[in-house]
Amino acid sequence: MPEELPVGVVGAGPSGVTVAASLRRAGYPVEVLERHSAIGGIWDLDNPGTPMYETAHYISSRTLSGYPGFPMPSDYPDYPRHDQILAYVRSYADHAGVTPFVRFGHEVVKAERRPAGDWQLAVRTPDGERERRYRALVLATGHQWEPRLPDWPGSFDGELYHAKFYRGPHQLRGKRVLVVGAGNSGVDIASDAARDARAATISLRRGYWIIPKHLFGRPVDVIAHGGPHLPKRLEQAVFAFLLRTFAGDPSRFGLPAPDHRVLDSHPIVNSTLVHHLAHGDVDVAPDVRALDGEYVEFIDGRRSPFDTIIAATGYRVHFPFLDPGLFRWHQHVPDLWLRVVDPELSGLFVVGMFETNAAAAPLLARQGELVAAVLRAQDTGRSDLKSLVRARPRLSGGLHYLNTDRHALAVEARAYEKEVSRALHALTSG
Ligand SMILES: Cc1cc2nc3c(=O)[nH]c(=O)nc-3n(C[C@H](O)[C@H](O)[C@H](O)COP(=O)(O)OP(=O)(O)OC[C@H]3O[C@@H](n4cnc5c(N)ncnc54)[C@H](O)[C@@H]3O)c2cc1C
Ligand SMILES: NC(=O)c1ccc[n+]([C@@H]2O[C@H](COP(=O)([O-])OP(=O)(O)OC[C@H]3O[C@@H](n4cnc5c(N)ncnc54)[C@H](OP(=O)(O)O)[C@@H]3O)[C@@H](O)[C@H]2O)c1
Repeated sequence: MPEELPVGVVGAGPSGVTVAASLRRAGYPVEVLERHSAIGGIWDLDNPGTPMYETAHYISSRTLSGYPGFPMPSDYPDYPRHDQILAYVRSYADHAGVTPFVRFGHEVVKAERRPAGDWQLAVRTPDGERERRYRALVLATGHQWEPRLPDWPGSFDGELYHAKFYRGPHQLRGKRVLVVGAGNSGVDIASDAARDARAATISLRRGYWIIPKHLFGRPVDVIAHGGPHLPKRLEQAVFAFLLRTFAGDPSRFGLPAPDHRVLDSHPIVNSTLVHHLAHGDVDVAPDVRALDGEYVEFIDGRRSPFDTIIAATGYRVHFPFLDPGLFRWHQHVPDLWLRVVDPELSGLFVVGMFETNAAAAPLLARQGELVAAVLRAQDTGRSDLKSLVRARPRLSGGLHYLNTDRHALAVEARAYEKEVSRALHALTSG
């Protein structure tokens, strides 16, 4: 392995900048390839193809969403807006000394592992296509770029698009809007529609717990973080009691009753949908059965006309520049050690490919440390590395995630942090 080559990181979003910082701290030369003209990933509304919209705010609080050792500014609100998060990620990249190592306007179009063990990339740059070689490759390209669209029978005469193409309320004005899906995108967009559309409906195929952004006047993740560490079932029971008592039963507002325990599906953190339901500004419909001209048929037999359907139905993991055969796939996602390390130790890593019940940045930073520690262990010829990366620790922390596509990437934040810490300890001791 030509160890003098740099490590290549693809993507200068929140993941790419922190893994680059860890690698640099560990003494590795790094090059970050970013197709856009600036740092920030999806948080930059000018990054072509971003799923971000003008009304997006964090669902995790300022207090807990910072990178370790670099808190979000204290004058930020409890739940910062997309442009504040963007500014924060950029200031972190500057603070961590990573910005000078980012090659902007560099899009990776092909990546292959060479027989010598290093990685050869074809990169589209403003000066034409270039080849680059790296000793290891870290994919930090995000997993919210490739829409997952339902295949409904029938055809629709109005406009139908995925949430990825929603930018803001101007797209809703004067229209009868149906939002399908009630992940955080769906509930945000339905709330915008309640305010700005001519009429708004949200279609859900199951009931969910909708967690308000504040409990007792404080950010809900701060309350949960500061509470006692209870066994998961007990924690779920206590949380469900608090939600029912202080936020109310979702079915009182016309939503279907949750069909699972709280936290067994990816948390929906939103205070505006219930507000608009309580004011009659948004209707609730069950799953879509078929499309028929300007009408949508729902599974309860209802038929309603719409001008616009927005499918907020989630995203697929996709690496368009990589042979999918390089990974072993499980439930449509690569099967990696701790969601990061190729168990074949091919020098291929993925950072940021998870969904969790807490802020992402602290875990992204830990993933960056893991990449650096595995490279170091390879360099020093750790004999037990192969057996370490074959382990498949449980990352659900006692939760029983719903068996749907969106949970294939789910990890319980505390359990995940514990397992990564354990791995780092094993890699760096002895
Ligand atoms: C609307 C929305 C709101 C969210 N809110 C929260 C929240 O409140 N809290 C939270 O913790 N998380 C939230 N998330 C999750 C979000 O995914 C993370 O916050 C974070 O953006 C992930 O960072 P990333 O660097 O992994 O990916 P991205 O932000 O997607 O960045 C990937 C980067 O890779 C670049 N890239 C992609 N392909 C290539 C290529 N072939 N060559 C070169 N460059 C490439 C892209 O241009 C981009 O800059 C939200 C997600 C969405 C969609
Ligand atoms: N404000 C914010 O901070 C914010 C905003 C938007 C997104 N995000 C984050 O971005 C990520 C993606 O969120 P997302 O809401 O876009 O996607 P998501 O979490 O995958 O949610 C998709 C929703 O669509 C439903 N769905 C999927 N396929 C369907 C189908 N064929 N027919 C009907 N319904 C279907 C899902 O139902 P099931 O539950 O039954 O699968 C779910 O309700 C998450 O991490 C989220 O937290 C955050």
